[in-house]
Amino acid sequence: VTRVGVIGGGAIGSVVAEALRDGKVDGATLGGVVAGRAEGRAAFDALLETCDVVIEAASQAAVAEYGPSVKDAGLDFVVVSAGALVDDELLRTLSAPSAGRLLISTGACGGIDLLRAAQLMHPLDSVRLQTTKPSAALVRDWMEPELRQKLVDGDEELSVFVGSAREAVQRFPETANISALIALATIGFDGVEVEVRAAPHARAATHEISASGQAGTYRFVIENALSAQNMRTSAVTAYAVLRGLTDRSAVLAPGW
Ligand SMILES: NC(=O)c1ccc[n+]([C@@H]2O[C@H](COP(=O)([O-])OP(=O)(O)OC[C@H]3O[C@@H](n4cnc5c(N)ncnc54)[C@H](O)[C@@H]3O)[C@@H](O)[C@H]2O)c1
Repeated sequence: VTRVGVIGGGAIGSVVAEALRDGKVDGATLGGVVAGRAEGRAAFDALLETCDVVIEAASQAAVAEYGPSVKDAGLDFVVVSAGALVDDELLRTLSAPSAGRLLISTGACGGIDLLRAAQLMHPLDSVRLQTTKPSAALVRDWMEPELRQKLVDGDEELSVFVGSAREAVQRFPETANISALIALATIGFDGVEVEVRAAPHARAATHEISASGQAGTYRFVIENALSAQNMRTSAVTAYAVLRGLTDRSAVLAPGW
């Protein structure tokens, strides 16, 4: 039985821990939880002692904070805050060969398995993510006052950003995880193009992923329901994490 340690006690971590505690995942059991930073390093060290795999379901900072120690301890490290891996140095450190593997949960994103296979067959020619969100959720300090005003009280759908996934991760942190998953599975943070669109009456986020290359032409549209506990997180994410524990094809690992 695989003993699973969970870092994070929020919308994702609490659902994952409860399912494991209740024995819902064949072959896996809950080894321990670090629900928040306040629990301190000792709680984390206890996880390393008692677990075979550690899941980060906390924050981008937590990936850098705990990941290297998990790998050094020879345990598999499952990353949910995939956006943290835009840091090339951190990605290199965590994916360096060792007894423990870096496994990236496919989280709230679909189609990653097929895009990865297409990329392995022959590098994709183009990969694009178009994310549409409620206008009010996209207002940012760096925007011109005129654009900000349009987002606050405008009535038309508009494009607020087109650029690389690397830039999108910085400008719109809420696109970070999905941008990172697509980038890591395909042509990287500098190759993937991201467009962020504002829709005045949208109630949640819609992601449209398109890609083309020798393997084929792909288009996926994703509209996830939000977690009741955290309105920035898709409720399905926790179940993607749980599925990944029993199905290795449900996670993304660097390389093949
Ligand atoms: N890959 C995906 O598709 C996907 C989808 C949704 C969310 N996420 C990411 O997953 C992460 C968790 O999301 P959530 O909705 O559960 O968040 P949340 O805010 O509901 O909960 C976060 C939890 O982590 C804990 N935490 C934060 N930093 C910590 C640290 N350094 N050490 C220990 N505990 C720490 C907090 O105390 C809290 O319990 C976020 O980074 C989010 O961006 C990824």
